Amino acid sequence: MIIAANFKCNHTRKGFAEYAKKLNAYLRFSDFSNLEVIVAPSATSFIDSEFSFIQAAQNIYPAYNGAFTGEIGLSHLQEFGIKTIILGHCERRNLGENDEFLAQKFDFCAENDLRVIYCIGEDFTTYEKNKSIEFLEKQLNAIDLKYNKLILAYEPIYSIGKSAAKLEDIEKIMQYLKSKTKQPILYGGSVNSSNIAEINRLCDGVLVGGASLNVDGFIDLINAAVRG
Ligand code: PGA
Repeated sequence: MIIAANFKCNHTRKGFAEYAKKLNAYLRFSDFSNLEVIVAPSATSFIDSEFSFIQAAQNIYPAYNGAFTGEIGLSHLQEFGIKTIILGHCERRNLGENDEFLAQKFDFCAENDLRVIYCIGEDFTTYEKNKSIEFLEKQLNAIDLKYNKLILAYEPIYSIGKSAAKLEDIEKIMQYLKSKTKQPILYGGSVNSSNIAEINRLCDGVLVGGASLNVDGFIDLINAAVRG
């Protein structure tokens, strides 16, 4: 089971340092086999040390370094030992990252042997029109679904920061996605400690935003997932 936290534009360097210490202590003394915890802080909060969780990046520019103002290249992530990258989050897509650019990023990550948490998801209008699968199919065409370091994250846009999608809808999409790839598939969108157990039964783990920000709350969520 994978439990991944996406802090988005939250927590400072100091805040994440405290968070990481507490989460690390909790995970180090827990004996959870078959659990992988991933945390993606903001880039200015990266920590250069080993933890019992995996530190991830929320984005990458597809270059080692160079004249790309405001971007973060592979050299910057390597300095912190980061080998896991979230790509395609709808909040990045909203800022103009399209399938073509995401394909470039994905290929760059694959060439550099990085793990990719690749986010896909439809909006409410698409869902209502019963066009979810067609929409997801198009997003999936951008990437190699056989890449062995791919983790797919299904995040229906209408559920992010609001309330989780219906279990029957998650189940239907998971069935479809499982027919497309053998790689792990996460669900994301308003996962919390009350709904994680039932959601987890349908997928290989979760991607959590808001409910990961408070470290005690995130630990509760992990406990709820492990208890099932
Ligand atoms: P949320 O965010 O858990 O706050 O809905 C999930 C995400 O955007 O990855």
